[in-house]
Amino acid sequence: MGYRIAIVGATGNVGHEMLNILAEREFPVDEIAALASRRSLGSEVSFGEKTLVTQDLDTFDFSGWDMALFAVGSDATKKYAPKAAAAGCVVIDNSSLYRYDPDVPLIVPEVNADAIEGYKNKNIIANPNCSTAQMVVALKPLHDRAKIKRVVVSTYQSVSGAGKEGMDELWDQTKSMYNPTDDVPAKKFQKQIAFNVIPHIDVFMEDGTTKEEWKMVAETKKIVDPSIKVTATCVRVPVFVGHSEAINIEFEDFLDEDEARDILREAPGIMVIDKREDGGYVTPVECVGDYATFISRIRQDSTIENGLNMWCVSDNLRKGAALNAVQIAEVLGQRCLKKG
Ligand SMILES: NC(=O)c1ccc[n+]([C@@H]2O[C@H](COP(=O)([O-])OP(=O)(O)OC[C@H]3O[C@@H](n4cnc5c(N)ncnc54)[C@H](OP(=O)(O)O)[C@@H]3O)[C@@H](O)[C@H]2O)c1
Repeated sequence: MGYRIAIVGATGNVGHEMLNILAEREFPVDEIAALASRRSLGSEVSFGEKTLVTQDLDTFDFSGWDMALFAVGSDATKKYAPKAAAAGCVVIDNSSLYRYDPDVPLIVPEVNADAIEGYKNKNIIANPNCSTAQMVVALKPLHDRAKIKRVVVSTYQSVSGAGKEGMDELWDQTKSMYNPTDDVPAKKFQKQIAFNVIPHIDVFMEDGTTKEEWKMVAETKKIVDPSIKVTATCVRVPVFVGHSEAINIEFEDFLDEDEARDILREAPGIMVIDKREDGGYVTPVECVGDYATFISRIRQDSTIENGLNMWCVSDNLRKGAALNAVQIAEVLGQRCLKKG
């Protein structure tokens, strides 16, 4: 016996990956509904070998559905997630709306699966920001061994993190560079993204950080340990899919780079590719379609007492969103909503 699952935002980047991953991992599904806005009513999406016809989220009745995986922005989530939850359907949400709500668990299954029991408070579970998800998978096993004091992270985030419109803008601007009669002004991003990098994701906060940077700080504390200090610089780069991060970690105790490499090799969700030779590391184009968070360039930071540097790459539409949401659904099914 399987579950009745609704995919909310099935026509988007993350929704599309959710459908792929549920099929790939043979999630026990009895019935699946693809939901999006009225604009997409009747359009088709693939679920494994099957084709699903998209339904209108606005008129959908969630009664009798076990789980709804939401991948629409915060505004639509605010309107529809409470309706689904009130109908008894557990919401697993990809937007930032509920992440900082103390009554809503924020889950990365490799790190804090036990917190899932908190879903009962509101029938809602939050999925973290894409940059946080891949970073905490790598931080947790190191924190368990040597206690992390402080993290300094710089991100190199792909345009798919800004949805399908972000991908279109990079594609159109890149083409227009070779055809000067086409002018594609910046719309989704604040400046030209083709052949450029932009040190600005989401809105500015009062202290000069951006909301994306603030999210990495707040979410790492909620998921891993409130005592960890994090400072982040989040940058958009002209890459279609795959986020990269340069991470500097200061530990309470000494941790040798070889031991760190061994710990990460054993850690769930991590793949270490770390050869000190040309090409002996992972770049974002190589992580697309993969489940793993890839760690490379692990090395001691000799400028501080107990420091390490590393390079972290993952598919933002997978571990950063859809895969993590499906993993949450798997834990929920196994621990809380058993069938059969
Ligand atoms: N991309 C990432 O790396 C990433 C990572 C973590 C979290 N997230 C979050 O996941 C969510 C989706 O991101 P995405 O990248 O998949 O965006 P996207 O490609 O732009 O897709 C947005 C989806 O939401 C639907 N939608 C938007 N407004 C709606 C409304 N009022 N009613 C019903 N459906 C509506 C769209 O339907 P139509 O096609 O009908 O317009 C589409 O299916 C966002 O909250 C985002 O912040 C994204």
